[in-house]
This record gives sequence, structure tokens and C-alpha cells, in this order.
Amino acid sequence: MKISKTMQSALNNQISLEANASNSYLAMASWCEFTGYEGGASFFYAQSDEERTHMLKIVHYLNNLGVAAVIPATKIPASNYKSLESVLKTALSSEQAVTSAIHKMVEIAQKERDHSTYAFLEWFVNEQVQEEAKFETLIQKFELIGRDKLAINEIDKILAADATVSADTAA
Ligand SMILES: [Fe+2]
Ligand SMILES: [Fe+2]
Repeated sequence: MKISKTMQSALNNQISLEANASNSYLAMASWCEFTGYEGGASFFYAQSDEERTHMLKIVHYLNNLGVAAVIPATKIPASNYKSLESVLKTALSSEQAVTSAIHKMVEIAQKERDHSTYAFLEWFVNEQVQEEAKFETLIQKFELIGRDKLAINEIDKILAADATVSADTAA
């Protein structure tokens, strides 16, 4: 089975996007930990691990097809944030960028009648729906609960609970 050069480079580019997402969530986790947001820290450390597993899925897919996966250098992520809310907003926009990259790959797969890559990408399409919904819901909490110290502490606890749920469902 062969996949086109276009598809190969799109998938390799996706490896890079997932690696950068993992790295940027790691920086967010570290910022949260340093700042004292324990929930945010465990949430983003777990999120960073999740993005690494996404990256590995694509690495394995390409290698199993006999196409050498390209392991990329990652960009230096932003390491300073104004607030927990701005961390979550940055995360949402990065997820939106990942979603559109995945949708572009789906279109390539459709155009090239690459059924195996099309089927492989279905998991990522569904995953992105969940990822965007998760961050949108978390960002809404600032409108619902507030932005004072007690409210932010409450939101940090919600992040802690969400990190535990993700850890339980992963595997
Ligand atoms: Fe991802
Ligand atoms: Fe993600």
C-alpha cells in the first residue's frame, strides 16, 4: 500500500503540530505549577502527554506503511502568561489550528481516494471535536463563576478533576 508524497508530507507536518502542542502544554503546565495553580498544572501535564500519544500514532502509522516518519525539532513555547484564562484561550486557539490541519488532511485523503489514511484520520477528527468542546467549556467557567480569587481557585479545582478524568480514560 502506498500513500502519496503530498499525504506523507501532510502527516509529517501533523507530527510536528502534535509535538509542538505537547511542548506548549508542557510549558503551560510548568507555568501553572510555578504560579500555584495545582489543578491547572496536573491538567496541562496530562494534556501534554496526550498530545505526545497523538504524535506517536502518526509516527507508527507512517513507519508501518514503510514511510520513515520525520521526528521534528519543536519551537520554543511561550513560557509566560497573564492568567489562567489566557492559558486556556491560547490552548483553544491552538486546538482550532490543529483541527483545521486535520480537516485539510481529510480532504487530501478524499481527493486521492486514500482510504486507509481517511480511516486513520477519523479518530483525529472525533478527538478534535472533544478537545475543542473541553476547552470551550472550561473558558465558559470564567463567565459563569467569575474572575476573582475564589472563582479562579474553583476553576483550578475543576481543572484538577478534569485531569483525573483524562488520566482514567486514557490507555
Ligand atoms: Fe492532538
Ligand atoms: Fe489536542
